[in-house]
Amino acid sequence: MPITLNSIAKQGVHGPAMMPIIQGVGRAATEIAYLLRGAVFRGALGAAGGENVQGEQQQKIDVLSDEIFLEEMRATGFVCAVGSEEQEDLLVIEEYANADYLVLVDPLDGSSNLDIDGPVGTIFSVVKRKTANTETPLESDTLQAGRDVIAAGYVLYGPSTMLVCSVGQGVHGFTYNPTSARFELSHPDMRVPASGGYYSVNEANADKWLGDLQQKFNAMKQQAGLGMRYVGSMVADMHRTLLKGGVFLYPADEKNPNGKLRLLYEAIPMGFLVEQAGGKAMSQGASVLDVQPQGLHQRVPVYLGSASAVDMLV
Ligand code: AHG
Ligand code: MN
Ligand code: MN
Repeated sequence: MPITLNSIAKQGVHGPAMMPIIQGVGRAATEIAYLLRGAVFRGALGAAGGENVQGEQQQKIDVLSDEIFLEEMRATGFVCAVGSEEQEDLLVIEEYANADYLVLVDPLDGSSNLDIDGPVGTIFSVVKRKTANTETPLESDTLQAGRDVIAAGYVLYGPSTMLVCSVGQGVHGFTYNPTSARFELSHPDMRVPASGGYYSVNEANADKWLGDLQQKFNAMKQQAGLGMRYVGSMVADMHRTLLKGGVFLYPADEKNPNGKLRLLYEAIPMGFLVEQAGGKAMSQGASVLDVQPQGLHQRVPVYLGSASAVDMLV
C-alpha cells in the first residue's frame, strides 16, 4: 500500500495538525500543475500587467496560483491568515480568524521560467500564531525566526510534480501519481550529500558581489570539485542541491544589498529543509533560521547546501 500525505499525521507532535494543511498544499499543487500544463491555450502565460509589492512584473500565473493557494488554505479550516509574495499585506481568512496557524507562501517560484517552459515551484512554511485566537491575526504573527517554523516544503512542477516537506521529523518527498490521483512517498528521508554535487548561482552578478566573496568563490571552484548547474528557479536549484549536494547561493550585491530572495517564504522554508536534511543554511554569518524577520517581504542573502561547500563561502 503506497504511503501518502496522510502519513504526515504520524510524524511527531506537529504531524496531526500539519497533515490537513499539507494535504491542502497538495490540492493546490494539483490545481496549479493542471493550470501550467494548458496555460498557453488559455492565454494564461505572460504578464498580468501589474507589479507585486516587490516591484516585479507579475505573471498571470503568479496571480492565479496565489488565488488557488489561498482558497485551498481557507478550505482546510486550520489557517487563520496567509502571507504571500503576491500580496502586500497579510491576508486574514475571516471565517477562520480563530484558527491556530499562519502560512507563508511563494505561490509560483521561478516565474521567469514560465515562458521558456522551464521548471517552477511553490514554496511554503507554517507557523503557529502568537496572538490569542480570540483576536485578529497580525503581520507580527508571521515575523518568527525559522527556529519556530512548524512545517515547510515546496512543490516542484517538473517532468513530474513533487511535494517535498518536513514537519521537523526529516525531509520526505512525495510524487504525484496520475494513476491514483494522489501524492505518494517516493523519496523517504532525503539527506544532503556531504560532498559532491554542484554549485548553483547566477555568476553574471559576481563582479557586483560584496566583500571577499569572489575570492572565496573562486577558491571553492578550485578545491571542491563541483559541477555547475543554475536553472533560475530556487525550487528546482534547491531540489537538485538536496538530492545531489553542493551549494546554492544568492549573495548580496551592489544592486541587491540584502540579496534577492525573500526571508519568510523562500530562505526560511528552504533553510528549514536543508537543516532537517543534514545540510547547512547560512545568511549574514549565522544560520538563516536564526535571522529575526523584520518584515513580510524582507530579503536576505542565502548559502544553502552541503556544509563543506557552504563553509568555503561564508
Ligand atoms: P520568484 O519567481 O518567486 O520571484 O522567484 C525567483 C527567484 C528564485 O526562484 C530564483 O532563485 C531567483 O529568483 C533567480 O534570480 P535571477 O534571475 O536574478 O538569477
Ligand atoms: Mn520565488
Ligand atoms: Mn514567486
